[in-house]
Amino acid sequence: MSDMAPIEVAGSVAVVTGGASGIGRGIVRALLEAGATVMVADIEQDVLDTTVAALSASHPGRVSGVVTDVIDDSSTDALADQVFATHGRCNLLFNNAGVGSGGGGRMWTHEPNDWRWCYSVNVFGVANGIMSFVGRMLESGEPGHVVNTSSGDGGFAPVPNAGVYASSKAAVSCLTEALAHQLAEDSDQVGASVFYPSGGLMDTGLFTSQRNRPTELERIRGGTGRVSMTFDEMKGLLEKGGRDVKVADLDEMGRWVVDRVANRQYVIARDLDDTVDLLHRRADAIGALDLPPHHQMGL
Ligand SMILES: NC(=O)c1ccc[n+]([C@@H]2O[C@H](COP(=O)([O-])OP(=O)(O)OC[C@H]3O[C@@H](n4cnc5c(N)ncnc54)[C@H](O)[C@@H]3O)[C@@H](O)[C@H]2O)c1
Repeated sequence: MSDMAPIEVAGSVAVVTGGASGIGRGIVRALLEAGATVMVADIEQDVLDTTVAALSASHPGRVSGVVTDVIDDSSTDALADQVFATHGRCNLLFNNAGVGSGGGGRMWTHEPNDWRWCYSVNVFGVANGIMSFVGRMLESGEPGHVVNTSSGDGGFAPVPNAGVYASSKAAVSCLTEALAHQLAEDSDQVGASVFYPSGGLMDTGLFTSQRNRPTELERIRGGTGRVSMTFDEMKGLLEKGGRDVKVADLDEMGRWVVDRVANRQYVIARDLDDTVDLLHRRADAIGALDLPPHHQMGL
């Protein structure tokens, strides 16, 4: 646990990228319930408007939306300008926006635009959030915390057939760890955590992330021949493989995350027994100079 004082969520100002739907929306809802004022930053204008309108009804005056493309540093800079101009501070920054890579598959059958799009959102999106906000969070002298959404796929070990996505999330875990060390050296007010969505399968828009793919990063070489699975297809596949599949409640997940962030827990993850066992076996393999074992998900 961090030496820093816990974050007081009630009365704080929070920003959640990718907060219009899925896991991010659960976090936004939990932040509002805990008394924060939230700016939801998302690329999908219509979904953003719907989410903000729905949440405004129960939390009037404490939630607003800013159309933001995390790929573009001028967009995250404009978001930070708006947050600091409106509230004078940002206490909690959730760099949560993320996408798949369009169905996975052998990485040599992907095309450069698959890699570019996935890395642009998942890696540069987080880096842009850090560059646009963290300096100002430090300068403000306010308590602050940055939470970057990674994934067990890549953050702990790759699912090989989702290797492009996995490697982007490995970058998120690594950069967040370095960020947390840097902040611990430079500040007793601002910290960082890495969040691994966990506690069941998540029925979110990640399976249809192509909806937000920009035209300049579209496939131009015909693609891998694979398309993203639907949530139901993935669930069916795991069930067929004998896995005990439970579906996560995203609102409950949001409350769990906010609770852990308030205590500045560094790794925000649960149901880790199998993962810890895998990590030990990975360390043993690396120590023996062998190829480490990977996540067993037949995707
Ligand atoms: N769903 C899962 O099983 C799962 C598992 C582990 C990690 N994650 C991670 O959780 C995070 C949230 O994903 P989700 O599952 O809720 O999917 P989602 O598609 O429901 O939510 C992602 C949000 O990000 C937004 N977004 C996409 N591109 C953007 C961009 N360029 N700029 C700003 N916003 C953008 C989308 O509009 C959407 O609202 C992602 O980082 C994802 O990689 C998801």
